[in-house]
Amino acid sequence: MIEIDRASRALFEAIQPEVDEAYNRHISRTGRKTISLDPYALVPLEKYESLQNEYELHVANWAASEIDIRQIIKANLLVDAATEENLPHYTAQIESGFESWHEWNGRWTAEERSHGEIMVRDIEARKIMDMSAEWLPVREKNLATGIHPKVNTPADGIAYVATQEFLTKVAHFQSARLMDDSGARTLRALGSDEGRHYQFYVSALRAIARVDPDMALVAMRRQHEGDNFDMPGKKGIIGYTGLAKTIALSGVFDAITILEAQKKTIDDSGLLEVDPKTDEGKAAQEWAHAISSKDDPSWIRKQKLMDLLRQRAVWNISSTLRPFILGQTVKIEENRFIPI
Ligand SMILES: [Fe+2]
Ligand SMILES: [Fe+2]
Repeated sequence: MIEIDRASRALFEAIQPEVDEAYNRHISRTGRKTISLDPYALVPLEKYESLQNEYELHVANWAASEIDIRQIIKANLLVDAATEENLPHYTAQIESGFESWHEWNGRWTAEERSHGEIMVRDIEARKIMDMSAEWLPVREKNLATGIHPKVNTPADGIAYVATQEFLTKVAHFQSARLMDDSGARTLRALGSDEGRHYQFYVSALRAIARVDPDMALVAMRRQHEGDNFDMPGKKGIIGYTGLAKTIALSGVFDAITILEAQKKTIDDSGLLEVDPKTDEGKAAQEWAHAISSKDDPSWIRKQKLMDLLRQRAVWNISSTLRPFILGQTVKIEENRFIPI
């Protein structure tokens, strides 16, 4: 739970008009009458068989290029679905920190809940994995662990979740490139929601930066410097390290994706344009500037790490990932991954 002190309360009162504006913008941009996407319309029961057939055909097309896309899709969707299902664990924390955000929080929770349900129905319909043997153990451990970000101040929570929303958007749109046509459409619908969530949280971060630049900058640095930031699945998902490696090699999401999202959050929240007063705030702004201009050493360090991972996978003939390594055996063309 977040402890709200007097100063934080005053801050949140000061940014409330911008938060209300961001909330209203969110509602008007969804373009639907219901709060959340409709899992039963997007993945209807009567279409399960045709969705499975479409998926099998898709897998068979890849197999003709001697690429087993099944394993790649499975790793991506397993982690994404578990991440979606975990997000309502943030609800109580947001509620405790931001009383006046109750309406947003309820709506956001409903939307995230629908994402989890849509993904699970889609995975089940297409028979992407064995639901009892492969999905259920991950769901149970992940939900029972109940991960939510550990934050010192309300600004920390916003600095964390803004970047996480952007990353979830990227994950959905990138996974869509791996999928058959109807699966890709569904993932893009989810990704669009995530883009709107990002807009809300980054607007809130921008508002904090305006009222209290030091608090916003220090929170951003504390949440994102070095290896501080992790997606929630790292602690809750069984076999996460192996799955993350598969996802990184598949060209969907890796350490550089996280750095790009941190840069995007810094750029969009105006953290580089505000004037911090304290030494800690000034140092945090220097760090933010280095991330944004790609001068921070973490860019080189993480690029080397990813290059090494890809080289090792190419050398290791037995690796199931060898046939699908972005830039070596596949490329992206017309919004799709295709074999080289
Ligand atoms: Fe989501
Ligand atoms: Fe989201």
